[in-house]
Parts: sequence; structure tokens; C-alpha cells
Amino acid sequence: MNNIPVVMIIFGGSGDLAHRKLYPALFNLYEKGLIKDNFAVIGTARRPWSHEYLRGQVVQAISESNEHYDEQAAANFASHFYYQSHDVTDIDHYIALKKLAEDLDEKYHAQGNRIFYMAMAPRFFGTIASHINDQHLVGSGFNRLVVEKPFGHDLASAEELNKIIQGSFDEENVYRIDHYLGKEMVLDITPFRVTNPLVRNSWNAEVIQNIQVTVGESLGVGTRGGYYDTSGALRDMVQNHIFQIITLLAMPEPKKLTSQDIHQAKKDLLDSLEIPTKKDVEEHFVRGQYEAGKDNPAYLEEDQVDPNSNTETYTAGMVKFKRGPIAGVPIYYRTGKELKEKVTRIDIVLKQVENSYGTTEPNVLTIIVDPSKEIIFTINGKKVSGSGLREELLKFNYSQAELDKIPDGYERLIHDILVGDNTNFTHWAELKQYWKFIDAIEAAWSELNKEGKKPATYKPGSFGPASANNIFENPTDKWIYR
Ligand code: BG6
Repeated sequence: MNNIPVVMIIFGGSGDLAHRKLYPALFNLYEKGLIKDNFAVIGTARRPWSHEYLRGQVVQAISESNEHYDEQAAANFASHFYYQSHDVTDIDHYIALKKLAEDLDEKYHAQGNRIFYMAMAPRFFGTIASHINDQHLVGSGFNRLVVEKPFGHDLASAEELNKIIQGSFDEENVYRIDHYLGKEMVLDITPFRVTNPLVRNSWNAEVIQNIQVTVGESLGVGTRGGYYDTSGALRDMVQNHIFQIITLLAMPEPKKLTSQDIHQAKKDLLDSLEIPTKKDVEEHFVRGQYEAGKDNPAYLEEDQVDPNSNTETYTAGMVKFKRGPIAGVPIYYRTGKELKEKVTRIDIVLKQVENSYGTTEPNVLTIIVDPSKEIIFTINGKKVSGSGLREELLKFNYSQAELDKIPDGYERLIHDILVGDNTNFTHWAELKQYWKFIDAIEAAWSELNKEGKKPATYKPGSFGPASANNIFENPTDKWIYR
């Protein structure tokens, strides 16, 4: 790999994301040679840490993510880290930050390249972006802004944030991170769909009955109750991760595999996204909250959660597009906390065909994204003994050697930021459409709240509220994964 010179400023350098994801990912890229001698990282946060303390934290983060790490390499890597205590609202701190960035640029010959990484509470994103602008923090080389989710709270606040960001960064230099776009099986969707004639020619409403995206989590909100209660499953998971998966499943084939063509294909699809009415929401969408279980309090009893909260920890719904290869095909999703297991999977349910053998169960093409990485296709064959048919499975999975080589999502995406490839990041045109959809559901739910209709409840360890079994347009359809 080529060595990329850069000074990277991480806002939120003492935070959990930096510790668990960013430092280990950067270390792996360092070991692979993408960043080498000509880089420096400035961690900023409010806490009064020293450079040495941050370096110790970086080494600890590496050791926690990989017990076989090379101690000497980790120490060399950590020596490139600097800490600046920073109050994001204080102009003087940006002046100091600019000076430190310039000094480090000179020391490490970073050629004026800057990456600004917003890894802190989203309410500060706008303030940071405007001060990067008014205090002229951008360097003389490339300047890239990385924004964690959530990007806004609804369409209006996302538009406002975007406007501020545009003051300093062109759209092509804004990297809105969605770590699901760094997952191997999510990246496998397009080649899987378009390169095999059998799959490709079946990717239409004549063959596909519906698609089901399931993102289950076995844990509750834990210590994140404060954030989660202002967000809910719809904003936390559907607005970004689930919608990106759905977009990849439904978009027209990009003309070429360039970032521009892929984003254009996504935009063409999303411009035809059907925005649900209140009636649609009542019929095809469900929200739920988990009850108390053996090992967990009820959502309403979690720390920092309003005991009267209507925030959903589970949601299921339906997405449809007017254009694209599967226009009109219902795409169902469901996601929640405290569910039966941690799993992300896509089930593509095929239509049942009239045939001389009689009715069989619908055949399904399944892509398991997590925890295993598999593709499973059900087919029908004759029973070996006796008469009649049986369902058989065609299965693809990776060898252990290949699994070991698959980088973590963050490593893959930070690599892309360093080399300037924004293919697997959320473009503003996509985000805007996602928010329109989410806003429509939130508006309908808030009407329902006024009518005294609360979210359903569900048992921990289940698949969510029973009402989620009735969201299908076709009453004989059902969740494949149960
Ligand atoms: C995050 C959400 O974006 O994704 C979390 O904020 C969620 O609530 C997480 O737990 C799930 O990611 P993954 O990769 O573990 O499926």
C-alpha cells in the first residue's frame, strides 16, 4: 500500500468509538503500510489528558482488540498521537488546534492533507463544522470530513447541518460513515445480484414475492439509554444501515463501478421511494418496547429512559419503490434490541410456481451478513426414498483462512477515506430520501401517541411483538426467519 501523508483530527478522541474502533483500525492500516512515517493523529476532547496518556490509551485499545499485537509496532504507532483538550464551543481552542495541526504537518511532512473525524455527540457536529470553516482549519492539501451517524434528527435538522458543512467541504469530501457499508456481505450484494445470469434474470417482480431484512440484537440499550431514548430503532438502525442494505438490493445496476455511477444508481432508485401515509403506517409498520426479562429491566425502567417514553426499541415496516428492477416488490424490515439473537440477514422470498408436483414451500435466497457470512439457496428435489419432494440447501461460506483476511468495517472505510474513495459512504441525495421516509413514520406515530396508542410490548428473547406478523401486504406472506 502507498503511504498517505496526513494529519487526522479526531473530535471525540477520548470516546468509546475511538477506543474500540478507530484506533485499532488505524493500527491495522499502519501495519499494512497505508499510513507510515508521514502521519499524525490529534485526539481532542474535553478531558485534560496529556499526549502520553492518549498514547497509553491507544496502545491499550490495540491490545484489547488483538491479543497477538506487536508491542514495538504499537508503541511506534502511538508515538504519532497528540492530545489537545478542547471545548468545541471555544474559538481559542480552534486557534490552538490549527497551530498544532500545522506544526505536526511540518514535522511529519503531511503535505497539508487533513482528515477531520467527528466521533463525538452529534449535537456538536454543526458547531465543529462551522468553526473548522471560520477558523480556517483546512490544510493546503486534501481536506476530508468524516461524520458519524446520526446525521441530523430529521430532514430539517439534517439539511441545516449539511448547509453548515458545505461552507467548508464539497459533497465529494464529506464521508458520512455507515459501518454497514464496510461489511463484507453487504458489499457482496451487487456482484451477487448482477453477475450470475440466473440471479440477474430473476431480480424482478415476476420472480420475487418479497424481500425481508432482519437485523436482530440480543442486547438491550445498556448504558446508552440517554441517547437511545431520543433516537429509537427507526432512527438508530433503519434510517441508515437497513436503508443502505435495501438500496443495494433494489437499485438499478450502475453503469460502471465508479463512485459517481453507484451514487447515481442509488439516487435514481431513491427518488422513486414511496413515502408511507398514516394509513400505511397503521397497516404495515409496527413499533415495540421490550419488557423486563430474567436479565434485563423493561425498556421503560432502563437508566436515563423516560418512564413514559414512546420510543421504540423494535420496529418493522415495509419499503417500496416505483422504479428499479424490483419496482413494486414489498421489502420488509425488522430490527430491535433484546431479541432472540444477534443476526443480520436478508431473505429473498421467491414466488411459488404452479407446477406438476403441486405446491411447495416458497424457495428463499438468503444472505447472512452477521454473525456468519453465508449465502443459502433453498431448492426442491425428490426424496431419495419414497415419493414426493423435499427442500434442499445450497450453501456458500468462506474458509477460515478467508474469514481471517476480511477487515473490520471501520478498517475498510477508513482505508477508503485515506485514499479518497467515497463509494461506500452515504451521499446527501440518499440521506435526504431516507429522512423523508423516517419523518413520515415519526409523524404518524406522533399522531398515534396523541390518540393514546402506545407501542406494543414484547418479551426479551423473542422476535418482537406479535403484531409484526400482520404487516404483510399479501396475507399469506410471513417472516421466513422465525
Ligand atoms: C449502531 C447502533 O449504529 O449499530 C447500535 O447505534 C447498534 O445501536 C449497532 O447496536 C449494530 O452494529 P453491528 O455492526 O453490531 O450490527
